[in-house]
Amino acid sequence: MSIAQLQVVAKKLIESKNSLAFTGAGISVESGIPDFRSSGGLWEKFNPMEYATIDAFKRDPEKVWTMLREMDKVLEAADPNPAHSGLARLEELNLLSGVITQNIDNLHQEGGSQTVVEFHGNARRLVCIKCGQAVAAADARARWQEEFPPRCPNCQQIMKPDVVLFGEPIPAEASSLAMGMAQVASVMLVIGTSAVVAPASYIPVVAKKSGAFIVEINPEDTVLSQEIADLTVRGKAGELVPALVEQIESLLSK
Ligand code: OAD
Repeated sequence: MSIAQLQVVAKKLIESKNSLAFTGAGISVESGIPDFRSSGGLWEKFNPMEYATIDAFKRDPEKVWTMLREMDKVLEAADPNPAHSGLARLEELNLLSGVITQNIDNLHQEGGSQTVVEFHGNARRLVCIKCGQAVAAADARARWQEEFPPRCPNCQQIMKPDVVLFGEPIPAEASSLAMGMAQVASVMLVIGTSAVVAPASYIPVVAKKSGAFIVEINPEDTVLSQEIADLTVRGKAGELVPALVEQIESLLSK
C-alpha cells in the first residue's frame, strides 16, 4: 500500500460532492467469507452452472441447497470487518453517499452503512418462487432439524434465498437505483470485485463514462485495472479502507 496514493484518494473524497462505493466479495474475505473466483473460492468447489442457476434450482432444489447450506454456515458466522465499518464512517462524515454491493451477506448494514443498494439480493431472507411468500432465513435455520430444505409455510414449495441466481433478473429497484447513482457519482471506490459478472460489472463503467474518478482497491489486477481505474491501490480492503479513513480524519482535523 502507498500512503501517497491514499492521500490522493482522501483529497478526492473530501473535494467530491458525490462519492460512491461499489463492492464485491473481496470486501468480506477478511470477515471469513471466501470469494468466488480466487483460489479456494466458492466456484472452485461448486460449479456455478450446476449449483447457482435458477434452472438448476428449479430442477433440483435439494442439490442446490447442499451449497446453500454451506454458504449459510459461513455467512452466519461472519461479522463486519474494518473495511465495512470504514465505509460506514465515510458515510457518517458525509463523504460517501452510499454503497452499491454485489454481496448478499448484509455486512455493510451490520457495519453501520445506512444507504446500501443490494444488486444481488440478501441471503437473510428466503422467498418462495411459487407464491412469493418471504420468511427470515434465521427462522428457517432454527427449524432445519425438522425441515431441510426449508419449505414455504404457505404452499410447501422449497424456499430459495432472496438472492439473484444466474439466469434471474436483477431486482428492478436496485438496478435502476444503482445505475442512477453511478451516473451522478464523481468518485467511485471499487472494492474487492473481479468485475466480470454483468450487469453489475457495468456500474463502474457507467460511472467512468459519466466522468467519475475511479479508484480500485484490490490485491490483484482485474479487468478494470488498466482501462477503467484512474488509480489502483493494491492491498486488502480491511487494511486500506481504515487507513484511508485515518488519512481523511487527519486532513479534516488540520
Ligand atoms: P470474485 O470472487 O469474482 O472477485 C473477488 C475479488 O476480490 C477479486 O478481484 C479478488 O482479488 C478480490 N479480493 C480478494 N481478497 C480481497 C481483500 N481482502 N480485499 C480486497 N479485495 C480482495 O467476486 P465478485 O466480483 O463479488 O454473483 O463476484 C461477482 C459476482 O459473481 C457475485 O456477486 C456472485 C458471483 O457469481 C452471483 O452469484 C449472481
